[in-house]
Order: sequence, then structure tokens, then C-alpha cells
Amino acid sequence: MTVRKMTEEDIASVVTVDSKAFSDAWGETSFYEEIGKDYSHYFVCESDGEIAGYAGIWCIYETAELIRIATTPKFQKRGIANMLMQEILGCAKENGCERMMLEVRRSNAPAQALYKKFGFGEISVRKGYYNGEDASIMESKL
Ligand SMILES: CC(C)(COP(=O)(O)OP(=O)(O)OC[C@H]1O[C@@H](n2cnc3c(N)ncnc32)[C@H](O)[C@@H]1OP(=O)(O)O)[C@@H](O)C(=O)NCCC(=O)NCCS
Repeated sequence: MTVRKMTEEDIASVVTVDSKAFSDAWGETSFYEEIGKDYSHYFVCESDGEIAGYAGIWCIYETAELIRIATTPKFQKRGIANMLMQEILGCAKENGCERMMLEVRRSNAPAQALYKKFGFGEISVRKGYYNGEDASIMESKL
């Protein structure tokens, strides 16, 4: 397993991962736009040439925002999100960020367990943010 920066060549595979992970899956155009932003940092985790997962953050002044993280189902529970979290947290620190923030569905227990493991705690709740479901806003100091 290796973690490296996402390139345009990865986008078709990343879209496949994304479509299996999210109900509001992104198309290729969204990823082209995302990786083109000068404040965005996207990484993939690759296993024998196959994209197993990806994660992306924005670093804006002292605050990093976790935009998306996903592992494709057949590779889940094998430590891929752990590797991606280490990479994005390190990247945020290197870019001078002092904290990382994210939003997560309150029903998403696997993601919340992942974030808590990496020191995130809930700082507020956005009522009905996801089509009626509450979002937990979490933060970790870097
Ligand atoms: C959340 C997600 C990214 C975890 O990916 P993963 O590669 O399977 O995670 P890992 O194997 O690296 O596990 C890391 C930690 O996450 C937590 N975790 C992962 N899957 C879990 C599950 N099914 N139930 C509870 N906790 C879980 C655990 O804390 C785990 O640490 P541990 O192994 O020490 O117990 C994956 O389930 C996923 O892609 N979900 C759909 C997309 C999503 O919800 N993304 C987050 C919202 S933006």
C-alpha cells in the first residue's frame, strides 16, 4: 500500500471509489476542479496499481478542512483510512494549519470512530444539514 498525491490520471478510478462510498457521489469534473485549486491537497492510497481509497483537504490560512475521505468497500477495514488520515494531517501541518475541521453525518459511526481515533471532537451540530439529517462538526488541533 502506498499513499501519494492524486493526479489527473487517477480521476476515473477515484470516481469509481467515490460512487461506492457516497450517495452524493462526485463526477470527474468535480475532481478536476478540486485538484486544480491552489489550496487543495488530494491523496490516493494504491494497492498493486489499484486505487483503494482517497482523501482531500483544503488548507486555508490556519484552518484545514477535510473535504472527503473514502475507502472502496473491498479494501475497507485494512487500515487505508488510517494511512490517509496520517498523510492529510501531516500535510495540513506542513502547510501551517493549526486545526482541522470536518462535517460528518451523525449516523456515520465508522467515520466518527475514525475521526475520534485521530483526536477529533464534536464542537457543534448543524441541524438537518444532510437532507434532514444532522451534521456533527468536528475539530482537531494540529
Ligand atoms: C470511514 C471509512 C473511510 C473508513 O475506511 P477504512 O479504510 O475501512 O478504515 P481503517 O481500516 O483505516 O480503520 C481506521 C479506523 O476507522 C474506524 N472504523 C473503520 N471502519 C469502521 C467500522 N465499520 N465500524 C467502526 N469503526 C470503524 C476505526 O476507528 C478504525 O480504527 P481501528 O482499526 O483501530 O479500529 C470507510 O468506511 C468509508 O469509505 N466509508 C464511506 C465514506 C465515508 O463515510 N467517508 C467519511 C465521510 S466524509
